Amino acid sequence: MSDRTALITGITGQDGSYLAEHLLELGYRVYGVVRRSASENFWRIAHIRNDIELIHGDLLDQSSLDQAVLRSEPDEVYNLAAQSFVPTSWEQPLLTGEFTGLGVTRILESLRRLDKEARFYQASSSEMFGRVREVPQTELTPFHPRSPYGCAKAYGHFITVNYRESYGMHACSGILFNHESPRRGLEFVTRKITHTVARIKYGLATELRLGNLDARRDWGFAGDYVRAMHLMLQQEAAGDFVVASGETHSVREFAELAFAEVGLDWQDHVVQDPGLIRPAEVDLLVGEPRKAREQLGWSTTVDFAGLVKMMVQADLEWIERQRNKRERLP
Ligand code: NAP
Ligand code: GDD
Repeated sequence: MSDRTALITGITGQDGSYLAEHLLELGYRVYGVVRRSASENFWRIAHIRNDIELIHGDLLDQSSLDQAVLRSEPDEVYNLAAQSFVPTSWEQPLLTGEFTGLGVTRILESLRRLDKEARFYQASSSEMFGRVREVPQTELTPFHPRSPYGCAKAYGHFITVNYRESYGMHACSGILFNHESPRRGLEFVTRKITHTVARIKYGLATELRLGNLDARRDWGFAGDYVRAMHLMLQQEAAGDFVVASGETHSVREFAELAFAEVGLDWQDHVVQDPGLIRPAEVDLLVGEPRKAREQLGWSTTVDFAGLVKMMVQADLEWIERQRNKRERLP
């Protein structure tokens, strides 16, 4: 049993839910910052709802972040909250900058003024590499972001490094490559594919509309990646770490494997939709996680094929449960 306390922003998101589970298993007391909403969005944390404490707050509101820090008195703070969907960042570039960029400074400011000893994790992103300057990408690869989201994340990364260097804070930036799971939002390409595959299998849909099939990503399992976040904050010295599988696959390959999982041919169902092509694309991401492996002792437990299978199977089960629920309705 640990006597440590963690504060997580973005606890209702994919990573927040896996990280909270992991920290609870390690014996942490876990607090989460949640936005007030007319209708609660707690489905990812419903199973641990009684084991964690939720505090209302918003990355736009400094005083609510101060209160969250004062109330939780954290040893470790994980800043996972962000506007995280890349296409939305072209529709709402200013809001994305406020949440995903300046929001990092707000929480760092709360810590600098109120709890400088707390260790800080910033959820940085491989999206910062954008039009990649080298393959594979390491902690030293220069950034060339290709979206307002990527630009905001680059700001969040550098302000984290700056607070470490300016104030001696234990502030880490985890440069995480794409990581997925059955808890992934439905708008991201992997979950969009696996959810639609399951719908097609059950006769609820016939086609899957996708944008760029040639884009390549380094995909891993979110449950593995949150362990790296925690390991970073256990190091004596804070630093930056690339967290990736080291493999790259195209959207086409992901779709092909997902349809094959249910005995279907992707070419019979996938339709390319020019409306889904982005104003500027990140064509190829592949990370070099050597530093995380060697310094953190981190490794993955789920490979690409295992991830696709896990997500398709979970979506098949999810649709089955929905159908049963509907059949039981009076
Ligand atoms: P996600 O599922 O989209 O979750 C985002 C979380 O941020 C949600 O809990 C959301 O709350 C919260 N949030 C958004 N705006 C907020 C605000 N203004 N104030 C307080 N909370 C706010 O994202 P994820 O996939 O778990 O990713 C976690 C973090 O890692 C994000 O920062 C993301 O940009 C970054 N990242 C993700 C990946 C990946 O592949 N998943 C890779 C690299 C970096 P609501 O539930 O209220 O919307
Ligand atoms: N979302 C989506 N929908 N993407 C599509 C589609 C589609 O219908 N068709 C093709 N794609 C391509 C996109 O153009 C992109 O190249 C790739 O699939 C992955 O898109 P997303 O799953 O939306 O993820 P992302 O790579 O843009 O961003 C995710 O990973 C980042 C880390 O690199 C998000 O989780 C970010 O928050 C994260 O920082």
